[in-house]
Amino acid sequence: MNWKILFVDDEANILKGLRRMLRGMRKEWELQFAGGGEEALENLKTDHFDVIVTDMRMPGIGGADLLKEVAKKYPNVIRFVLSGQARDESVLEVVNPAHQFLIKPSQADRIKSSLCKAMNSLYIIHNDVLRGKLTNLLSIPVQDIALKELSLELTREKPDIQTLSSIVTSDVGITAKLYKLLSSSFFGTSMSVMDSNKLVEILGIGIIKKLLEMNGFFAVYDVGAKMGECVKEISDHSRKVSILAGKIAETETEDSEIINAAKIAGLLHDMGKLVMLALEIVDEEQIPYMGNEYGSAFKQIEREQGTSHSELGAALAGLWGYPSTVIDTIRFHHNPSLLGEKSFSTLTAVHTAEAMLSGDRLDMSWEHRLDSDYLNSLGLEGFEERLKGIVDRELKEDMFV
Ligand SMILES: [Fe+2]
Ligand SMILES: [Fe+2]
Repeated sequence: MNWKILFVDDEANILKGLRRMLRGMRKEWELQFAGGGEEALENLKTDHFDVIVTDMRMPGIGGADLLKEVAKKYPNVIRFVLSGQARDESVLEVVNPAHQFLIKPSQADRIKSSLCKAMNSLYIIHNDVLRGKLTNLLSIPVQDIALKELSLELTREKPDIQTLSSIVTSDVGITAKLYKLLSSSFFGTSMSVMDSNKLVEILGIGIIKKLLEMNGFFAVYDVGAKMGECVKEISDHSRKVSILAGKIAETETEDSEIINAAKIAGLLHDMGKLVMLALEIVDEEQIPYMGNEYGSAFKQIEREQGTSHSELGAALAGLWGYPSTVIDTIRFHHNPSLLGEKSFSTLTAVHTAEAMLSGDRLDMSWEHRLDSDYLNSLGLEGFEERLKGIVDRELKEDMFV
């Protein structure tokens, strides 16, 4: 399959450079170039594109307005910004309409890998309509209370980073949106794998404040009480998976990248469930089934959609530019053997932590939920004993306080 990509920039030299730089991709990519927003919209009228990559500041229709228009009229197109204006106020205009932000100048490899990751992840979803809806999903449900707490802390004269951080990591939707900005280069730095507790520190209080004041960055869904409770349950469960996955990773490895990724991927592993709520894949009646991801009722809902919460979460994670480790962990957290890894990884930690928790409680009969073929193939001698050790040592439920 040939991907079709539209590059938009008012500087002819930049387009020329991109054409030259991406020449090696000719066999897989069909490239088209537009000198501005108006021309791009004309191109989109007559041709189908998989991805649009636009500059921000251009005479006439600027990048932000162009992407908003594309989102409205061509929901299946993946939207990238390629701009030198990172860390600029104007970036705030594209944090929602753009899936990812690339800093100008970017190396060919970086452009290639970011575009490929987004396209390949999105195409995990086979259903065209669902893919279109996913491409246009600007945010996933967040807990109202978490937003209120965040605002309250930010109104203080000296907001406390630790407090802000624990509010952020208590909510999957908030973490997911902030992680999008850091995985991609919206604000200059691209810090892909990091300790989830550092999200606030790296983005900075000023930016978080602006995002909170912005209309629609953290979309408040008009959810009923049942749905609100479900969003909270997903966040509570995910926070616990994150803590437990972190502890498992710390026991098995000294590799801080695996440990940090286990914490962040643990927090985000079920973001696909929030996607299901946002896209109204589950109705009010089915909400109680969401709590038991191993239950037949929940699996039936997934089967009817021809996809799963793991795939929906991974597809959005790819669109938002998360690191591959995190995308893979989200995608395979219930059936890790499908990835074919042969040593302990972030996925091992999250899969195991997930299996050990039933909803948000530790469940001592977790073994039957583990992918035993996978664990055997890793050859981790004494692994299950060490897991039991973690639970005993950390005084069971107290570890989550
Ligand atoms: Fe889970
Ligand atoms: Fe799950």
